[in-house]
Amino acid sequence: MSKLPHIGTSIFTVMSQLAAEHDAINLSQGFPDFPVDERLTDIVAQLVKKNVHQYAPMAGYPPLLEKIATLTQESYSRIVNPKTEILITAGATEGIFAAVQALVKAGEEVVILDPCYDCYETPILLCNAKPVHVTLNNDFTPNWEAITAAINSNTRMLIINNPHNPTGKTWTMEDYDLLEQLAKANPNLIIVSDEVYEYITFEKRHISVHHRPKLWERSISVSSFGKSFHITGWKIGYVIAPEPLLQEIKKVHQFLVFSVNSVSQVAISEYLDIVNVNELGKFYQQKRDFFRELMKNCRLELLPCEGTYFQVASYRGISEESDLDFSKRLTIDYGVATIPISAFYPDRKDQKQIRFCFAKDNDTLAEAARRLGKL
Ligand SMILES: Cc1ncc(COP(=O)(O)O)c(C=O)c1O
Repeated sequence: MSKLPHIGTSIFTVMSQLAAEHDAINLSQGFPDFPVDERLTDIVAQLVKKNVHQYAPMAGYPPLLEKIATLTQESYSRIVNPKTEILITAGATEGIFAAVQALVKAGEEVVILDPCYDCYETPILLCNAKPVHVTLNNDFTPNWEAITAAINSNTRMLIINNPHNPTGKTWTMEDYDLLEQLAKANPNLIIVSDEVYEYITFEKRHISVHHRPKLWERSISVSSFGKSFHITGWKIGYVIAPEPLLQEIKKVHQFLVFSVNSVSQVAISEYLDIVNVNELGKFYQQKRDFFRELMKNCRLELLPCEGTYFQVASYRGISEESDLDFSKRLTIDYGVATIPISAFYPDRKDQKQIRFCFAKDNDTLAEAARRLGKL
């Protein structure tokens, strides 16, 4: 008997396979298709010949922990203790998994905001806790009334994601004010703040839980070097949490992976001396603007995109098909693969919207827009 009977092939695999079968441009899965910074690959090339191939310390390579503390201070003016408040994880996915396993008991509730990335629910189910789904407003802002109503004395955790995958929405100061009020009213509640796109925001700067002293002692922030340095395949990220929470998370991490790939930890530690993470937002803003400009010739309606490398489009004026059927037809007949937004809702709520990933080479984006212009 399966412990997770409802889990099948993910939509990302389905659409990527369909793209391959029909030789379509794959704007479905969220990964960059352009080369990694040569300065980083040069560091790796040098490193592999050095003595960096044995287990790293359980919590992470100490110089990397130090540099993350410095980065956190530069980005959010928050001082964190590298020895006790930071843990290097095998991607954000492992950080989220370990946090849920460590801190949520059987029977407790965890609130998740839909549409959401697909790695939140499974760890909740595996600890026999209850996922409670709250739908975002139609413009993808948090529905505070519904979130407040969903939280009770049995709610252990709220998982938030800002900037947001799949919608590219970002939170406002007012959202964080309301989150603080909610945390104050619910002393048992802890917050997992998935901030993997923290350095990919456009007109507005990212607001982190680290900006909000009243949230610190209750929050676990989750970051991903995969997203920040175009190296999704490396599967390396980190969580920051107050010592009492992180101690518990480390207990799970110790027996899940023990420690993370040593070569990548040393490489990223060296790379952090020369890279400027603040360039990332500008880089992706150019891609967003380039793609949006080209898409002016297309009948799809593009929704606002404030951060991440995802662009949501509505096809309401074009077709009555389900978003899954429409996405398949775009792939097969027009040669561009996308993700239907309903895949990010457990009840498959269909708002006739699809998601494009614009973390692609400009020529790829231009060709995709040209094909979509035929719609
Ligand atoms: C919102 C969100 N959280 C977490 C992850 C997983 O990140 P990682 O590859 O570092 O595990 C992703 C990857 O797409 C994501 O979009």
